[in-house]
Amino acid sequence: MSRLQSWPEPIIRVHELSESGIKKIPENFVKLPSDRPSEMTTLSSSHVDNIPLIDLENLKSSDESIRDETMEIISKACREWGFFQVVNHGVSHELMANARGVWREFFHLPLDEKQKFANSPITYEGYGSRLGVVKGAKLDWCDYFFLHYLPEKLKDENKWPSLPISCRQIIAEYGQEVMRLCKRLTKILSINLGLNEDYLHTKFGGDNERGACLRVNFYPKCPQPDLTLGLSPHSDPGGMTLLLPDTDVTGLQVRRGDDWITVKPVPNAFIVNMGDQIQVLSNAIYKSIEHRVIVNSAKERASLAFFYNPGGDILIKPADELVTEDWPALYLPMTFNEYRAFIRTKGPCGKSQVESLKSPR
Ligand code: OGA
Ligand code: NI
Repeated sequence: MSRLQSWPEPIIRVHELSESGIKKIPENFVKLPSDRPSEMTTLSSSHVDNIPLIDLENLKSSDESIRDETMEIISKACREWGFFQVVNHGVSHELMANARGVWREFFHLPLDEKQKFANSPITYEGYGSRLGVVKGAKLDWCDYFFLHYLPEKLKDENKWPSLPISCRQIIAEYGQEVMRLCKRLTKILSINLGLNEDYLHTKFGGDNERGACLRVNFYPKCPQPDLTLGLSPHSDPGGMTLLLPDTDVTGLQVRRGDDWITVKPVPNAFIVNMGDQIQVLSNAIYKSIEHRVIVNSAKERASLAFFYNPGGDILIKPADELVTEDWPALYLPMTFNEYRAFIRTKGPCGKSQVESLKSPR
């Protein structure tokens, strides 16, 4: 796939656009009528349904039936929702609050300060405002910052924000704790799939090769929220995502059949979702579910999306143990680097990519 060296059009910083006091959003943010948050969405935001909530402390219960039941709730959430929230996950609540705090401060810095970290489509690392390099594409109402934690060879703290002053240290500590939780979750998922508990960890490349990156999304107030989206429908290309959203404002919506369910975030919880690589490794027993973000005119919103991924050069294919005569391998092998090039070129496109990986039957 061709590698673009620069963005196809001048970059518009959404926060600055929002702060300028415009009453109408520019044409490039106006989605086609079929892609706008619809009346249906407004209805489902009052929908009582929510993604499953899991208390990880229950896995440490002395009562075996509580442990088994919790494993089963997680298994069902992975199979039927692809999304769940976890509490009592072991990550310090203070650290979570500090991480959200420094990032909010970063996005409120003067533009020149943020521009020092402006990104390009070659690696996406840094401060960005679009996904994909298709000229004339409709844009999402979001600025973001993207950085690598792992593998070690991709980690470069000099590419992380230098302000606020505590930012790099807090990002580092946050990554360490969240990575520990991710490793624990991959064990739980492996066991639930009937695999060796280290299966997913090993397939991701183990401690030395596995990847981890952070995308901090900042969704400014939008004067015409019905015409645009903060993030277009997509499934996450990587392994597993741990999202830390603001809790006083909603925005994330998860596809459930023909409906979009608005997630109501629980304080101090992480929202966990399966990415495309887990869909492939589990041979579609677990699915990466499409999701999107809506914006509003009253409140800005920020979220920290932590992506836990296989190493870029490892061939990812359905686990042999999960391939049978009745349930043959559904996907062709591909490395995560090859896979990721797609969203980096085309931007968010629903589930079209993982579908295109289907092996001929
Ligand atoms: C993402 C994502 C959701 C949100 O960054 O991939 O889906 O609520 N974010 O910001
Ligand atoms: Ni996502």
